[in-house]
Amino acid sequence: MEKRALGLFSLNGFAFFLALATAFFGAEQIQAGPQTTASKKVAAPTAEEIKAGKMLFVKATCWGCHPHGENSMNGDKPLKGPRFAKKYQSDDELMAAIRRGSVTRGMPPFPVEKLSEQDLRQIVVFIRSLSCSAKP
Ligand code: HEC
Repeated sequence: MEKRALGLFSLNGFAFFLALATAFFGAEQIQAGPQTTASKKVAAPTAEEIKAGKMLFVKATCWGCHPHGENSMNGDKPLKGPRFAKKYQSDDELMAAIRRGSVTRGMPPFPVEKLSEQDLRQIVVFIRSLSCSAKP
């Protein structure tokens, strides 16, 4: 009698554990879902995002030397066009170049204390939009 009750209890315990595990695993899957799709699918930036990037580009003083993505100090290095696109194929490379600057040639460095990661990303969205042939 006692043995049977114990058996029943442990069976219940196992069922409870199983339910918990399923709930946990299920929740994890739900959490992972949108993240996976977001990293795979890169949505085209909206006009608002590009505009926000432009404002930061002005605010961070970039516009002073790069009006409309040109380069008023070194005309050979505008921030658009085929040469630029070929040189900076990934956003990571482009962001690294902005962080580094080109001190001996007039481009100041922009470390994180001067420009947050989020602002830099937004600026990159604007810079990329300069090379888009399809302009609104
Ligand atoms: C004081 C002037 C000045 C300011 C301010 C400035 N830049 Fe520059 N930038 C330059 C010059 C000059 C070069 C070219 C350097 C060289 O010839 O190596 C350059 C180069 C670059 C390049 C690399 C272009 C290439 O073809 O390799 C990028 C990207 C860039 N700037 C982005 C920015 C961004 C973004 C900002 C603002 C956060 C900014 N710059 C602020 C002067 C400036």
